[in-house]
Amino acid sequence: MRVGILGSGLMGAKLGTIWARAGHEVVFSYARSEQKLEKLAREAKGKARAGTPADAAREANALLLAVHWSRVDDVLKQAGDLSGRVIVTCSLPMNADDTDLVIAHTSSGAEALAKKVPKARVVSAFGTVPSEVLFGVFAAKRKASRPSLVYCGDNESAKAVAAELIRDVGFDQVDAGPLRIARYTEPFTLLIARLAYEGDGGPELAYRFERFGRKG
Ligand SMILES: NC(=O)c1ccc[n+]([C@@H]2O[C@H](COP(=O)([O-])OP(=O)(O)OC[C@H]3O[C@@H](n4cnc5c(N)ncnc54)[C@H](OP(=O)(O)O)[C@@H]3O)[C@@H](O)[C@H]2O)c1
Repeated sequence: MRVGILGSGLMGAKLGTIWARAGHEVVFSYARSEQKLEKLAREAKGKARAGTPADAAREANALLLAVHWSRVDDVLKQAGDLSGRVIVTCSLPMNADDTDLVIAHTSSGAEALAKKVPKARVVSAFGTVPSEVLFGVFAAKRKASRPSLVYCGDNESAKAVAAELIRDVGFDQVDAGPLRIARYTEPFTLLIARLAYEGDGGPELAYRFERFGRKG
């Protein structure tokens, strides 16, 4: 797949690197320095390169949106026409000092994003785990028991693309349903962040759902 990274910070840099190492063609874009993007592309080793958001969006099978909520409009403007594109968003609708959601309960960041780009196909994924755990999950990919990762969206083919990217990182994808379920996954992330950053166990934290009582 060709994957464009819109926002090459904590989340975008790591996920882009992992996807390049998993064999995808990755374009890193949107950081404050061009040198940072080039270094990321060099160090990712696989088929990775640095570019503008418009380069990242061109012919991409999937785009990862990984910017602070306050930067969403700017990066979308730079990316240009996103008609038909699959946008996998991990961006949470956080306030300026990252202490609370500015959209919740009656809508979600993912739904607000889908309204901004009505011709794109938005999937919410990866926003429920801290960036610090991503390389660990990738390294443990061959182990029998994988951590879960919830995702949701309204377009089935876009969700299939997201599911492949989720598996490539090393998670078990958990289809949570339509995009409006992001109203629940986004606040869930604040719980994960609390455990990751305020607890004693450190931020390399993922979660796993277990089912009991299933017949057969
Ligand atoms: N970090 C996590 O563990 C985590 C977990 C779940 C969800 N999220 C969500 O994922 C999204 C991304 O988070 P993150 O932690 O990866 O953010 P981040 O590290 O701040 O990355 C954002 C990227 O945007 C770039 N950027 C910011 N302002 C810019 C500007 N004016 N011009 C060009 N580039 C600019 C940054 O450039 P520089 O590289 O130069 O700084 C960086 O590459 C957020 O919405 C966050 O809520 C984060």
